[in-house]
Parts: sequence; structure tokens; C-alpha cells
Amino acid sequence: MIDLTVQIGSLTLKNPVMTASGTFGYAEEFSDLVDLNEIGAIVTKTVTPKPRPGNPPRRIVELPCGMLNSIGLPNVGIDDFIVEKIPFLQSIDTHIIINVAGTDEQGFAECVSRLEDMPGISGYELNFSCPNVKHGTTFSTDPFIAERVTKSVRRSTKRPVFAKLTPNVTSISEIGIACENGGADAVSAINTLIGMSVNTKTRKPKLATITGGYSGPAIKPVALAKVFELACKLSIPVIAIGGIATAQDALEFMIAGATAFQVGTTNFYEPDATLTIKKDLEFYCQENNIPRLADLIGSIQL
Ligand SMILES: Cc1cc2nc3c(=O)[nH]c(=O)nc-3n(C[C@H](O)[C@H](O)[C@H](O)COP(=O)(O)O)c2cc1C
Repeated sequence: MIDLTVQIGSLTLKNPVMTASGTFGYAEEFSDLVDLNEIGAIVTKTVTPKPRPGNPPRRIVELPCGMLNSIGLPNVGIDDFIVEKIPFLQSIDTHIIINVAGTDEQGFAECVSRLEDMPGISGYELNFSCPNVKHGTTFSTDPFIAERVTKSVRRSTKRPVFAKLTPNVTSISEIGIACENGGADAVSAINTLIGMSVNTKTRKPKLATITGGYSGPAIKPVALAKVFELACKLSIPVIAIGGIATAQDALEFMIAGATAFQVGTTNFYEPDATLTIKKDLEFYCQENNIPRLADLIGSIQL
């Protein structure tokens, strides 16, 4: 038996495979395709204090090595989220991480406070990093703001808090350290890279918002470098995100220092990728005589 468990703060995950916010809906959408109970942790689509319609179309562009989106955090708002989405999430036998955002410090704390007394929620991921909404990345481009908002959420909950970071900064570790100082239990990295695509016939940008967030296989090397930087500089765990499609991808991130990882864009074209990756990680450990997967974390040879 291979031990696939990993520890993030006070949470023990049965395996390091998580879903990335916004790419796995509210889990129910995938329940016919994947045994949700087998996933290490499920991160839900960002919820905000008030409902949001999201950005105007066109909001998605498929590119040869990834995808560009400017969805803009459409969601039903925290009130309807509690009524419509929480009951199903509570029925899943794994850790449920609720991804929250606000337009200011109070917005983040408000979402968390509303959820705090509900059973079946293991922690919160703070979306400090959406490139597709006004001021969406403010919280993870300024270390003072990142620390202040993390502190304010920290005061509103006893549960673990993960700060989700943008790669669109000069020094991601400066922001990561600020979140750690603010009381974050882990950082998740990365959110999407800012990108653009142009229609050469019309000469118009393909996305209605002109630029959007680039994700998928193409961003993996960028994400890996950011995760490595964070793992070297921070004492709290790093949760890797960015272009993870196979167990080999996931292993690279764990060897570079990630404690767990999230599968994002891959869910759109391979909806059971999470469990294929889990199975292949187990196989890798068996083949290489590694009884405990967590021993690989940060084992990079420089
Ligand atoms: C269509 C789409 C919607 C997304 N929505 C969210 C979201 O609501 N909240 C969030 O924190 N990240 C969101 N993300 C970012 C992903 O969680 C992830 O950080 C990013 O896509 C990089 O990982 P990947 O290359 O594996 O997709 C979204 C990404 C995509 C492609």
C-alpha cells in the first residue's frame, strides 16, 4: 500500500490531487464522471458577497497550447450559494475548500463569516488573483494589501486559509511572504497569466475584454518556476496550479516543493483527469519503491 496522504496545515488530504477553482464547477457537474470522494480536495468556483453576471461574451478562446478566458467570476452570490450549492458539497466525503473573493477586505471576510458555522467545509481559498475583473489582482500585487486582507480573513475563521496568487507580478514570493505574515496556512499558485489573441480578419481582439487569463499546458514551466520560488522562500505549504495534465506534471511540482496540486483546464477536455493522475502517482511510487509520496516534496537535486 502506498501512502498518498499529504498535510496542509491542520488538514490531512488522502492524496495531493485537488481541483482548481472555476474548472470543476461546484463538483455536482462532475459527479457522473468522477468518484468525487476519491479526490484529495475540491475547490469550488469563486463566490462573492453579491451575485455577479460575469463579463460579456466572447469569454473563451481556445489556443493551440492552452486557453484564454475572461469569464469574470460569474456566480450566484453567497446567499444563494449557501442554499443551492452547499448541501451537495456537504455530501462528498473529501475536503471542500470554498474559494471566495470580494471587492474589498470586508467582502472576503463577509463570505468566510457566513460559511464559518456550516459543517462539511474544510477551509477557504482567497482569490487574490483574478485578472478578469476590475481590481481583481489588487490583493496579490501589493504586499501590504495582501497581508491586510489575509489578516482580516484570519480573524474571521478558525479554518485553514489559502491565499491564491497571481503570476503577473515581479516577485511572487514577496506577496507570498506577506500572506504568510498575515496568517495564511498555505499559498496556491498560480492563477492565469494575462494574455491576448487577435482575429486577423476583423483585426479585433477575440475576447470582449481584450485581454484575458491564459491557462493550460503552455503555462506549466512558468508555474513551476513560481512554485519553486515560493517553496524556497516560504515556510507554509505551496499548492501548485498551472498546466497540470498528467502524473508526470504533478511529480515535477512536488519535487520542486509543492505539497499538493490542483488540476484546472485539463478538466475541460479530460473530466476524469484527477483520478487518472492519482492512479498514475500510485503506480510511479510502486515502480520506484517510494512507500510515502510526501517524501518526494522538495526533493529536487540542485
Ligand atoms: C474557465 C476558467 C475559469 C476560472 N475561474 C476561476 C475562479 O472562479 N476562481 C479562481 O480562483 N480561479 C479561476 N480560474 C483559474 C484556475 O483555477 C487556475 O488557477 C488556472 O486556470 C491555472 O491552472 P490550469 O493551467 O491548470 O488551468 C479559472 C480558470 C479558467 C480556465
